[in-house]
Amino acid sequence: MRAIVIKEFGGPEALTLDELPAPRPGPGQVTIDVAYAGVNFADILARSQGYRVGELPFQPGLEVSGLIREVGEDAGDFTPGQEVAAFLDGGGYADVVLASAARVFPVPGGVDLRTAATLPSVLPTAYGLLYEVARLREGDTVLVQGAAGGVGTVAGQLARAGGASAVFGVVSSLDKAEHALKSGYDQVFVTDTFDQEVLEATGGRGVDIALDSVGGETFRRTKAVVARFGRLISFGNAGGGEPWQVGPADVSPTALTVGGFSILGLAAADPALLRVIADRAFHTVTEGGVELPVSAEFSLEDAAQAHILVESRTSTGKLLIRVAG
Ligand SMILES: NC(=O)c1ccc[n+]([C@@H]2O[C@H](COP(=O)([O-])OP(=O)(O)OC[C@H]3O[C@@H](n4cnc5c(N)ncnc54)[C@H](OP(=O)(O)O)[C@@H]3O)[C@@H](O)[C@H]2O)c1
Repeated sequence: MRAIVIKEFGGPEALTLDELPAPRPGPGQVTIDVAYAGVNFADILARSQGYRVGELPFQPGLEVSGLIREVGEDAGDFTPGQEVAAFLDGGGYADVVLASAARVFPVPGGVDLRTAATLPSVLPTAYGLLYEVARLREGDTVLVQGAAGGVGTVAGQLARAGGASAVFGVVSSLDKAEHALKSGYDQVFVTDTFDQEVLEATGGRGVDIALDSVGGETFRRTKAVVARFGRLISFGNAGGGEPWQVGPADVSPTALTVGGFSILGLAAADPALLRVIADRAFHTVTEGGVELPVSAEFSLEDAAQAHILVESRTSTGKLLIRVAG
């Protein structure tokens, strides 16, 4: 089978196309003939810095859609040919992947395989952030960093569907602002001045919920525009700054709650809970509240092009690798 392999960490050219033997499932596992693989920011960090990579060579790709190929012992009632989406430890940029059955989801009715490749990561992440961690309530105001990206595009729609009274986004360019405005956001600010603009838009009060995926200085500036009793949730460090730290002096004066979330951590530690959150999140799509944000697809041979787009901060929505066909 064809598979993208990383033999050394580096730029997009580190993604090399190889021929490997197709995996076979062990107990509790299935194999999947991949239709599409989702591209996640974590893949870029894995390729360039070894983020969550055990050892080299490494096969990137954390989520796929496709058809069940083979079912291992004690792997539940999956059947060959069944349409599924799966959350993986890696290996998604390939013709065939091995997946733990606990992290494989039947594709919900009415969702095609192309859209299904976006289900495992961005949707449960945005859902977990807003509903489980930040505990979104009717009438809350919400601010999302990276609003035009994969998670950002879903978070805007979910916040709106969950009853937010105003949804604000932050992006790095006007083109991205245009994209985010189609994804549930009421107002979208460009990075440099977002904090002043959020205060203006909220009459100086700040927002009830802020989701930050950039970290560093952006985390600090975001913290400054969260209202009293607000919730600031960190879910990434795309800016590559020092990890944030908060102490009593940061949180006590405004009764601020600071939280975090990791879908990869949840998938590794508690796949049953991931499934519960994923099922709730998938309902938002099947009930029509959220449209999944596929914006471009690339062949397996051109996987590097997808990484170049994300790294150059010119992508919007969700990028896919088209594996079959
Ligand atoms: N904690 C979790 O469970 C979890 C799960 C999925 C994703 N994430 C995080 O959520 C973020 C979005 O992930 P995604 O997969 O949906 O990717 P993505 O949004 O498609 O791409 C990354 C986003 O980060 C922003 N960004 C800010 N500084 C950047 C920089 N220096 N270089 C590149 N991008 C930068 C970009 O928006 P602008 O150019 O508009 O700033 C872009 O929208 C990432 O930080 C990722 O690590 C976390």
